[in-house]
Amino acid sequence: MTAHAHHLPQSPPVAQPVLAARGLTKTYGMTTALAGVDLDLWAGQSVAVMGASGSGKTTLLHCLAGIVRPSRGSILLTGPGGSLEVSAMSDRQRSQLRRERFGFVFQEGLLIPELTAVENVAMALMLRGVSRPEAEHHAAVWLQYLGLAGLEQRRIGQLSGGQAQRVAIARAQVTGAEVVFADEPTGALDHGTSQEVMQALLHATVGGGRTLVVVTHDETVAQQCARIVRLRDGAVVADSAVAA
Ligand SMILES: Nc1ncnc2c1ncn2[C@@H]1O[C@H](COP(=O)(O)OP(=O)(O)OP(=O)(O)O)[C@@H](O)[C@H]1O
Ligand SMILES: [Mg+2]
Repeated sequence: MTAHAHHLPQSPPVAQPVLAARGLTKTYGMTTALAGVDLDLWAGQSVAVMGASGSGKTTLLHCLAGIVRPSRGSILLTGPGGSLEVSAMSDRQRSQLRRERFGFVFQEGLLIPELTAVENVAMALMLRGVSRPEAEHHAAVWLQYLGLAGLEQRRIGQLSGGQAQRVAIARAQVTGAEVVFADEPTGALDHGTSQEVMQALLHATVGGGRTLVVVTHDETVAQQCARIVRLRDGAVVADSAVAA
C-alpha cells in the first residue's frame, strides 16, 4: 500500500477578499453618509475611492478600518488566521485590530510634530511592544526605502509636505499592515510631489502584496491605482479597473 493512498483530498484554495463589505449603511441623525455599500477588497490590490465632497468617502474608509461602526451591514476581514466580523467587535477589539493589522496615512497628522521622523515611525512599533533600538532600526530602513535617508533626525515641522507624507507612509508600513488606508494623502501637495508620494505609497503597499485603499479628489492620483470606486450620495455608482 502506498502512502499517498491515505492522503486526504485537498480542497482547492478559495479566493477570499481581504475585506468584504455588505449593505454598509451609516446615518448621522437625518444624514445618510453611506446608503448600502457592497465592496470586496482583494489582497495586493490598490483601490482609489472618488466622489464629490460629502459623498461618503471618509465614512466608508472609517467603517472599513473599524474606526466608525456602521449603522447596518457587515464587514468581514479575512486573513491567515481566519475571518472576523469587524462591525461586531467591541471598541477595544477594533482598536487592537487597527493597531495590529491596518495602516493609516491620514492628512490630519497621525505624526507627532515634536518627534523626529525616525521617532514617529518607530512609535508605531513601540506601541506594539518592540524595544526602542529595534523599532528605530526598522523605522530607519523604511525611511531609507522611501527616499528619506539623511532626514531621520529632522522634526516633522522641518520637512516639506511631501517628505512628511512619506514619513506617514513609512509609519503605516512599518508594522506590516495587511491593509493600508489613506485619506487624501496628496491633498496638500503639488502635482509632481503628489505623483511621487503616490508612487511611494503604491510601492510600499501593493508592491509587497498588501492592499491599499486611497481616497482622493485627484484623477491622476486615482489613475495610478488598479481600480477606481466612485461614490455618490453614499452609494457606489461606478467600480472599474484602470487600464494598465
Ligand atoms: N460625525 C459626523 N456627524 C454628522 N454628519 C457627518 C459626520 N461625518 C460625516 N457626516 C456627514 O456624512 C456625509 C458624508 O461625509 P464624509 O466625510 O464621508 O464625506 P467625504 O466624501 O469624505 O467628503 P470630503 O471630500 O469633503 O472629505 C456628509 O454629508 C457629512 O456631512
Ligand atoms: Mg473626506
